[in-house]
Amino acid sequence: MGGGASTAASTNGTKPAPKRSMFATKREDCQILVVGLDNSGKSSVIAWLKSTSGKGPSNKASATASTSAPLEVVPTVGLQLEEFSRGSVNFKFIDMSGQSRYRELWGSYFREAQGVLFVVDATDRLRMAVAKDELRLVLNHEQVAHRLNSLPFAFLANKMDLDGAVDSIELAVLLGVDEAFQHPWLMVSTCATTGEGIEQAMSWLTEKISASTSCP
Ligand code: GTP
Repeated sequence: MGGGASTAASTNGTKPAPKRSMFATKREDCQILVVGLDNSGKSSVIAWLKSTSGKGPSNKASATASTSAPLEVVPTVGLQLEEFSRGSVNFKFIDMSGQSRYRELWGSYFREAQGVLFVVDATDRLRMAVAKDELRLVLNHEQVAHRLNSLPFAFLANKMDLDGAVDSIELAVLLGVDEAFQHPWLMVSTCATTGEGIEQAMSWLTEKISASTSCP
């Protein structure tokens, strides 16, 4: 079996999250990009979030009400936009397909993004180097490189339920995410089919976004 839920996080000097999120009292819009290689579980993560948001299932993925039942998803072609509310926050998730021929579509979305969910198939050791290259591409993007403190990254070491999954600490090493990583970051082991770990990642991400000036 893959490792249990584990977490690694940035220790850089970003300002601490407030005790109470500014999202708590009024509805806010929040744009989060979901990035990762194909088959990493991006659509499944969004489907789980949507299935637990109190609204209907995703257009792309059919999610059952039970969080323990597998979610049916199909490969993303190009970009997939999902908008829904969770609590007092209106989320706009953009699932950016990991298929390389669509990467030129990324630019305008990074400009508007307030946070990034970077999803990795933690069992796919063969493609860890590719995932690392993908992360480099994102970090070097002109709309990302100048927002070091205001664009938080939540990394999901997904498919933790499967044999051979690396845990979040090992994944941080494999991706080269360490003290030198210049964005606020958190690395969480997740299972997108049950939702394990996703709430933790989202809570951290929304706190970071609300603490920054990039969310109205
Ligand atoms: P593209 O659309 O090709 O970019 O893929 P994606 O990153 O959106 O992956 P998707 O959510 O389509 O998931 C790919 C496959 O992995 C599907 O069969 C999912 O059911 C499965 N999957 C996703 N997350 C998990 C997980 O945490 N555990 C297990 N066991 N399977 C998962």
